Amino acid sequence: MKVVVIQGPNLNMLGVREQHIYGPMKLEQIHEQMKRFAQENGLEIEFFQSNLEGEIVDRIQECMGDAQGIIINPAAYSHTSIAIRDALAAVQIPAIEVHLTNIHAREEFRRKSITAEVCAGVIAGMGPFGYHLAMIGITQIMNEIKA
Ligand code: DQA
Repeated sequence: MKVVVIQGPNLNMLGVREQHIYGPMKLEQIHEQMKRFAQENGLEIEFFQSNLEGEIVDRIQECMGDAQGIIINPAAYSHTSIAIRDALAAVQIPAIEVHLTNIHAREEFRRKSITAEVCAGVIAGMGPFGYHLAMIGITQIMNEIKA
């Protein structure tokens, strides 16, 4: 079973950008931890980061017939992108949306995620550990579908 991890705009800047909000951990370190979980649980895993909406749409579409689960942090596009939402709905692959921060406790414009509405689950406010929780969650969902 394969999981594709999709990271949206500015997440390549983790560890540098607004550390008081997003913490010191870099994206590569988060991905290392996820890779370890995947290895321990016999899962294939691929990582993709882009600052461009259309590239994220393309990557979601490429998951069709290839991946059984998606973990996505659409970052700022969570609040604006109907195109990413439509792509997630189109491929019909279970997805878990992750936010490092608790978007419900932040500025008003971050409190709504239009992409989360088409995801199987959402994890917010747990920092990098949220990606680990998402790995556990997507594994459970994929196993349920397979059974
Ligand atoms: C974020 C929250 C978004 O509002 C923001 O634009 C991000 C990161 C998070 O992981 O907390 O870039 O998705």
